[in-house]
Amino acid sequence: MTDETKERAGAVSRRDFLKTMALAGAAASVGGFAAGEAKAAERAKSAARGELPKRTLGSGKAAMTVSALGFGLMGMTYNRSAHPDKAQCIRLLHEAVDRGVTLFDTAIIYGPLTNELLAGEALLQFRDRISVTTKFGHEAIDGKATGRQNSRPETIRRYCEDSLKRLRLDALPLFYQHRADPEVPAEEAAGNVAELIKEGKVLRWGMCGVSAETIRRAHAVCPLTAVQSEYHLMFRDVETNGVLDVCRELGIGFVPYSPMNCGFLGGGINEYTVFGPGNDNRQTLPRFTHDAIRANTRIAAALQSFGRMRGMTASQAALGWLLHKAPWLVPIPGTTKPSHLEENLRTLDFACSGAEWKELEDAVAAIPVTGDRYNAEQQRQVGR
Ligand SMILES: NC(=O)c1ccc[n+]([C@@H]2O[C@H](COP(=O)([O-])OP(=O)(O)OC[C@H]3O[C@@H](n4cnc5c(N)ncnc54)[C@H](OP(=O)(O)O)[C@@H]3O)[C@@H](O)[C@H]2O)c1
Repeated sequence: MTDETKERAGAVSRRDFLKTMALAGAAASVGGFAAGEAKAAERAKSAARGELPKRTLGSGKAAMTVSALGFGLMGMTYNRSAHPDKAQCIRLLHEAVDRGVTLFDTAIIYGPLTNELLAGEALLQFRDRISVTTKFGHEAIDGKATGRQNSRPETIRRYCEDSLKRLRLDALPLFYQHRADPEVPAEEAAGNVAELIKEGKVLRWGMCGVSAETIRRAHAVCPLTAVQSEYHLMFRDVETNGVLDVCRELGIGFVPYSPMNCGFLGGGINEYTVFGPGNDNRQTLPRFTHDAIRANTRIAAALQSFGRMRGMTASQAALGWLLHKAPWLVPIPGTTKPSHLEENLRTLDFACSGAEWKELEDAVAAIPVTGDRYNAEQQRQVGR
């Protein structure tokens, strides 16, 4: 056997192993507290095919059907403390594809650039069956973040061309505006992306962290596939600021980012957790001071307690609660660990009733959240 043949044989048997494990796992959950029989049987069949349940973001020509849970790459090279080496990240991304994840989220500013380069290298071979979404807006000059927004027409175009090269794609499946540029009206940004769509360089577009009004104005010029904003049990502003309502009304998908509150809802972060100095933005967030973490630990404990009676972990309770909110919503949890990938995807095996999710929601809502999610400068950039 040549090295190449051995490698290919290894990859195939690894895939078979993963599928067998997924099949066994999905079947095993039938006997637990978890999924109803029909749901578990259906999941077992699709797990055997390396598939996950699907959801559709957006509507009409802007529609995009993806796995019900996506994968956020950010933490593999940026903002989440020490990163595993590239080979390990690539192995994990391949495993996510093997398990049926078809939505992978990155951005120019993650690194900057390193995250897109990783996505391009790792996911190139799967480009016909997965979508890598990326984001423009935060300015990066010579690979360094300037802290400014730049959505001028020539910049959007240049960023698009550069992202295509880094991601090794002919067209970007979904190009988000990462933050609104106060100098560029939403209609103008939408018009510029519409040109890139006409030219076939971009297939669809989205916006992040914007107001309901901005969504409406931009969508009127170029239909949005998805809006991406922070949403989880500790931060539910999109329920009351009109963002989810406008998405529902206009048929736009919603992608909750940081769906486990940057990992906090998984229950593994405590006041002694040390964030990597210089490469973890959680130490700049008011919600992650020692005092805030100590106070908010009661919230993570409420998720653990909800999960304990149902065979779920706290992370699965956090993701499951989000998934039940709307069928046009696709969370993008990030991880650097195969065990967390497995745990997060297993969320799709559970079926709690609306009343059970309400019980969790009420238990968490009864505990006041300590600390804002962003500092003043980060807060200024969202909700425009
Ligand atoms: N549009 C925007 O402005 C914006 C902003 C922020 C993020 N995002 C996107 O959203 C994605 C996810 O956001 P995020 O990384 O901020 O937050 P997140 O997904 O809520 O949390 C990620 C953190 O949780 C940990 N984790 C993952 N699974 C876990 C599990 N089962 N149990 C315990 N801990 C677990 C990860 O650590 P391990 O590596 O140890 O698993 C990681 O540190 C990003 O990758 C990015 O694509 C977008």
